[in-house]
Amino acid sequence: MEIELVTSRLLLRPFVDGDQAAVADLFADEAVRRHLAMASMGPKGPAHFAAGFIRGSQDEWREGGCGALAVTPRRATKDTAARGEERVIGYCGLRLLPDRISAVELLYALEQTHWGRGLAVEAANAVMDWGFANLPVREIVAFTRPEHGASRRVMEKLGLTHRGGTDRYYSETLAAYSLARAGGTGG
Ligand SMILES: CC(C)(COP(=O)(O)OP(=O)(O)OC[C@H]1O[C@@H](n2cnc3c(N)ncnc32)[C@H](O)[C@@H]1OP(=O)(O)O)[C@@H](O)C(=O)NCCC(=O)NCCS
Repeated sequence: MEIELVTSRLLLRPFVDGDQAAVADLFADEAVRRHLAMASMGPKGPAHFAAGFIRGSQDEWREGGCGALAVTPRRATKDTAARGEERVIGYCGLRLLPDRISAVELLYALEQTHWGRGLAVEAANAVMDWGFANLPVREIVAFTRPEHGASRRVMEKLGLTHRGGTDRYYSETLAAYSLARAGGTGG
């Protein structure tokens, strides 16, 4: 599925194999990894991890119809090929949950040099709009460590509501947030 989401400052598109170096740089940064499920890189290092991440996201899109998208700065050009050449600065997307078909999980991470400019909220807003328009889900959920203030703030700015803690999907108790489709009841 060829998907392209355009915001005022960003272009989100599927990952391609050529993104491996940029994704490796993203995951090489301990500050980026600190609150992600893969906090330790494993013995094979960022390049190997990045290759697996890209493959995994391509599989998710092919098999499940959603997944992580590459976040790139948007070029002020109408030339689609040129626009797609920007270096990846992070990812944002929706992932299927193992036990629910009525909800998907929101994911996001950006290179540290791009933090604090509202870009995570901008990317996630576009992804959530796309999700509610294109996926048969009643709600979008998100999880984060309770102490991850920036991520909690992103979720709040996106309009998600804190629903308490859960250890249902990860091996620790995380703060759970959700937003129901407009006009829906969630669940
Ligand atoms: C979480 C992350 C995506 C935020 O990206 P970002 O582009 O800086 O986010 P935004 O600028 O859109 O919004 C961040 C908000 O959090 C606030 N914030 C930043 N650090 C904070 C902290 N320690 N405590 C509380 N709020 C904080 C910012 O002030 C901003 O809110 P404001 O606009 O009301 O001022 C980014 O830090 C990141 O990629 N982290 C590493 C990966 C990660 O942890 N992903 C989430 C896993 S659950």
